[in-house]
Amino acid sequence: MKVVVLTGAGISAESGVPTFRDADGLWEGHRVEDVATPEAYVRDPVTVQRFYDARRAALAAVEPNPAHHALARLEQAVGDQLLVVTQNIDDLHERAGSTRVLHMHGELRSALCRSCRGRFPWEEDLGDFPPCPGCGTTELRPDVVWFGEVPYDLERIVGALESADLFVSIGTSGAVYPAAGFVRGARDLGAQTLELNLEPSQGSAWFHESRLGPATETVPAWVEEMLA
Ligand code: APR
Repeated sequence: MKVVVLTGAGISAESGVPTFRDADGLWEGHRVEDVATPEAYVRDPVTVQRFYDARRAALAAVEPNPAHHALARLEQAVGDQLLVVTQNIDDLHERAGSTRVLHMHGELRSALCRSCRGRFPWEEDLGDFPPCPGCGTTELRPDVVWFGEVPYDLERIVGALESADLFVSIGTSGAVYPAAGFVRGARDLGAQTLELNLEPSQGSAWFHESRLGPATETVPAWVEEMLA
């Protein structure tokens, strides 16, 4: 059985990584349009770099939780029958042991050169504008997909959705496209669809089944069912 899992901020919430759409509508005290758009970067690159430098540094203080570990266990059992597509820019899936992960919104621990378009694994700050390892210019920016930019790996994701028997969405509000549309695409093409979320997401009605609760409980329980 081919399974595609889409994850969002909710799967990392219990690890201590804040979600985006909390009650105050701010992301760590910032309006999204002030830090997560190409226009914001052009207007104020230092603020944007510092914001992502802080998010990257914060990764050192968090650990994968039982939901990430459960997905890694599932991959160990079923191998290439499972693909995880994540909107998250943290690396908690990988640190839990998952290897088949597509980061459609990019990664904090990666830098993208605005000049040569090279992408480089990156652990350090970018706020002091270090030289690009590829071309030497000081045009490195966070390798994250901002609003108005095209997500990564869409062709592979659509291919996987086309052949999926089961599509599972975990911890995402269903507010941001194209990811929010995956459930309809997968369902139209014949997949069963399951949502695991703390509360009904905006796209809840599209799923065959919706299970509500914290990811650290719902995800391990679902994985146990899959492995039974
Ligand atoms: N367990 C399960 N779900 C949870 C938990 C939890 N412990 N905590 C929160 N959630 C759910 C919330 O109910 C919400 O539906 O996770 C969802 C998080 O929603 P968002 O904050 O909107 O995050 P996400 O859907 O990943 O955002 C999508 O928007 O800002 C952009 O590019 C950014 O990738 C991000 C995209």
